[in-house]
Amino acid sequence: MQRKINQSNFPFLRGRRIRNSSWIRNLTSEEGLNKNDLIQPIFVKEDNDKEELIEKMPGIKRYSISSLAKEIEEIINLGIRAVALFPKIDQKLKTINGDEAINPENLICKTLKFLRSEFPELGVICDVALDPYTISGHDGVLDQNGNIDNDKSLEILSEMSINLANAGCEILAPSDMMDGRIRTIREQLEKNKFPNVCLMSYSAKFCSNFYGPFRNALGNEKNLGLSSKKTYQLNFKNRIESLKEAELDINEGADILMIKPAGYYLDIIREIKNISYLPVAAFQVSGEYSMIKLSVEQQLFNYEEIVLESLNCIKRSGADMIFSYFSKEAAKWIS
Ligand code: PBG
Repeated sequence: MQRKINQSNFPFLRGRRIRNSSWIRNLTSEEGLNKNDLIQPIFVKEDNDKEELIEKMPGIKRYSISSLAKEIEEIINLGIRAVALFPKIDQKLKTINGDEAINPENLICKTLKFLRSEFPELGVICDVALDPYTISGHDGVLDQNGNIDNDKSLEILSEMSINLANAGCEILAPSDMMDGRIRTIREQLEKNKFPNVCLMSYSAKFCSNFYGPFRNALGNEKNLGLSSKKTYQLNFKNRIESLKEAELDINEGADILMIKPAGYYLDIIREIKNISYLPVAAFQVSGEYSMIKLSVEQQLFNYEEIVLESLNCIKRSGADMIFSYFSKEAAKWIS
């Protein structure tokens, strides 16, 4: 394909000819955001937990199973085909090793069973990581010295995965960033006769400030305190290391690769898309949501236009699917 443009050919070449009216801009537009690309994250809570509103994520709520059906119906009617569940776990249920994660009757399993039976066509993605369940707020478990015990974490994370698969989860999203988790979870899924469960691996999950509001939503800000996830999540300066992590996950049996956060990491999305045959997901995280939401409240931007720009740019960078707290609204605007 000839892609060379000779600047000196002006005025014969005028780029604006294909931007001069709306119909020609539409004819020449490259692929944009589609409703099928959108995934809505959903925060769930126990029925007796009255904390519905999330202080640091205006407009986003936590749902209990009894209030979930109406929201899911709306989401499905808007044309969104998948949701991702994140639980706010009662502090009393948190333990050193996050045992609640492997309880077959835990909040996520109950929600999952409800959704699978009421909305069988809906894709339900479940996070695999221990942070909602551990007292430390870490994604893995700690050894006596307070360091992450990678291999012990793998055992619990794969038990957690089987627990979710037993409750009907068809797509698991390990977000813990332990070494070897995709391979270990894949082996356990095979052993337990879940050959078709899909692994959407958070391959390039950076240690990001943009997760702050999410921890508020899960109610585990205090658990993590000043401790950081730097020994397992990636350094945001590192591009090449993120490619290595993606390649490891491909070799270990991932079906979809995820990059997170999204908006400030578009270069990473593009590069991972270019090196892999796997579909790529991007997660526009809580901090990205709240920054836009709060600045729109301050009337800095037009809500619809800024949100659709943020999502279309993520799409353009190479994401096949996008997790976004704006999914519902974006789906409305697209149609
Ligand atoms: C937990 C997890 C996090 C997010 C998704 N899964 C937070 C973290 O790693 O601390 C962040 C999502 C968001 O900010 O919207 N493993």
